[in-house]
Amino acid sequence: MADLLIKNIGVLASPKGQAPLKGADMSNITIAENCVIAAEKGIITYIGTEKDAPKSKEVLDAGGRLITPGLVDAHTHLVFGGWRQHEFELKLKGAAYLDILKAGGGILSTVEKTRAATEDELFNKAKDISLKMAKHGTTTIEAKSGYGLNLEDELKQLKVVKRLNNETDLDFVSTFMGAHAVPPEYKGRSEDYIDFICNEVMPIAAAEKLADFCDIFCETGVFDAILSEKLLLKARELGLKLKIHADEINPVGGSELAGRMKCHSAEHLIAATDEGIDLCAKGGVIAVLLPATSFYLDKPYARARYMMDKGIAVAVASDFNPGSSPNFNMQFPMNLACLKYKMTPKEALSAVTLNAAAAIGMADKIGSIEIRKKADIVIWDAPDLDYLFYRYGNNQALYTIKNGGIL
Ligand code: NIG
Ligand code: FE
Repeated sequence: MADLLIKNIGVLASPKGQAPLKGADMSNITIAENCVIAAEKGIITYIGTEKDAPKSKEVLDAGGRLITPGLVDAHTHLVFGGWRQHEFELKLKGAAYLDILKAGGGILSTVEKTRAATEDELFNKAKDISLKMAKHGTTTIEAKSGYGLNLEDELKQLKVVKRLNNETDLDFVSTFMGAHAVPPEYKGRSEDYIDFICNEVMPIAAAEKLADFCDIFCETGVFDAILSEKLLLKARELGLKLKIHADEINPVGGSELAGRMKCHSAEHLIAATDEGIDLCAKGGVIAVLLPATSFYLDKPYARARYMMDKGIAVAVASDFNPGSSPNFNMQFPMNLACLKYKMTPKEALSAVTLNAAAAIGMADKIGSIEIRKKADIVIWDAPDLDYLFYRYGNNQALYTIKNGGIL
């Protein structure tokens, strides 16, 4: 006896397997028509014809629509205090992202607001946003710290992610990003700050199992490749998996470092060099590309097709944060992946499901609609996959199902 049966599915579109799809394999999407799916205790147990399906307590009629795996948002800065609308006009007048940061605004203005907020305030805000993300089709969320930049407030952010994982129906993966910016107390002393993070913050975050990954902003005026390597080596020693914000704005050796260190993933890669991309391909690094950030910062788009041609597995995520990407609806970066990266809808689907799951170390559990994976499914108000990616601007998620339950 199943707990949930989804019947009258017009088109089921899903990648398959537990490994990221590299390059050309990203278009290996199974398309099945007129099938039903059953789930028991949150796990998919049956995909096939209606006549052979198990009986179920609850039946959901998909009305002949498209279903896909739940979207995996593999890169967000979800937990933060305040917003940054006060910097919007500055930005419109041409102030550059890194100049606003240099003047003590940007990330640092969010640090001020995040430090001032209580854990409960941050939790309630992030919970509210995540439930809205779910209404837009997202079922799993990676969330980074990096707006505390001291022991107490970094741990506070990570604890919020842990609580979100325990107290909501969604899955969260936590990334320690204490090296997101140099805080005012360490102005001009980025080396000392990295030592502080390595010796006094990261060991506690790791020991208390508050993070699965470590990330660093490797960028002009933030942390250079040498400091990034130092921090990532320490993170690896502490058992954290490695991510790096690499070449988001300027090519400062981040992608080369990611490739050489065989990081789990490299994020952004807008300005990555040919050499950096080659090294990422050789190192088996997953590229997490964030086209909504290119859009919002009015920057070039990462060379996704070039990376895929080199055999890299590409994931696409929202980069949701209050500065460079104040949007949590994954359908927008999905549109951009097609329109700007020139991905096909099949490739873009792999990028936001299986490859995104792989980017956060969860491809054995989520990212595809297959027996034994979690019943994380979206029923779209769309008749087929092309339609989902071709429309834009309105929420096309009709039902989001997480662990077999309708959200
Ligand atoms: O991925 N670049 C660093 N971190 C974020 C932006 C964070 C912020 O501006 O608050 C990003 O773009
Ligand atoms: Fe980011």
